[in-house]
Amino acid sequence: MILRGFIFDLDGVITDTAEYHFRGWKRLADENGFPFDRAANEKLRGVSRRESLLRLLGKRAAEFSEAQLQDMMTRKNEYYLQFIQEITPRDLLPGAKELLHELRANGYKIALGSASKNARQVLQALGIENLFDAIADGYSVQEQKPAPDLFLFAARELGLPPNECVVVEDAEAGIQAAKAGGFLAVGIGPPERVPNADAVFPNLDGVQLQDILTALE
Ligand code: BG6
Ligand code: MG
Repeated sequence: MILRGFIFDLDGVITDTAEYHFRGWKRLADENGFPFDRAANEKLRGVSRRESLLRLLGKRAAEFSEAQLQDMMTRKNEYYLQFIQEITPRDLLPGAKELLHELRANGYKIALGSASKNARQVLQALGIENLFDAIADGYSVQEQKPAPDLFLFAARELGLPPNECVVVEDAEAGIQAAKAGGFLAVGIGPPERVPNADAVFPNLDGVQLQDILTALE
């Protein structure tokens, strides 16, 4: 097994923006009288902005015009942008930056593979944009996870074939995208959330390159 690259999801792997996404959707839902809670938010993990809104609305989605849907997505994003202004390097999840540095020091190429259109801004706020050789974000491809397109785009940007790259993901949609693209997939979180991953770690705290390579063997 020759590995040359790593592709990292952002939300839930490098930083925990899920809370800010939750607050954005919650505010939108409250303003419109739609039911929405933390359990419902779990189902939006890793899911694109549009698909998140459709899941939040459920059967109600059919009652809205495209313009109304766009307006709701814009409003949620405005709330989210306000919340992420609070992000600083202290919001890096434990172990993430250490692992990125170790991978670079060992010659691995590193890409971001995030469905978020705000990914670059979040990386800047975290102070780690310079640790990535390529960025695949919500603007890079049409088809979002679980389609493999975003990770295939990232691998192409790195100049590597999928079977030489490891995807690190906290959402099952992302693990499915990785497997569909021919990547090795490391799941982050409880094993039941990422049942199809090739290896699982609860988080990146203390995880070193050798731990990942051993777990994938
Ligand atoms: C993913 C998040 O990374 O990006 C989802 O896990 C989010 O919760 C998606 O909906 C799209 O993000 P954005 O910032 O483009 O609305
Ligand atoms: Mg994620």
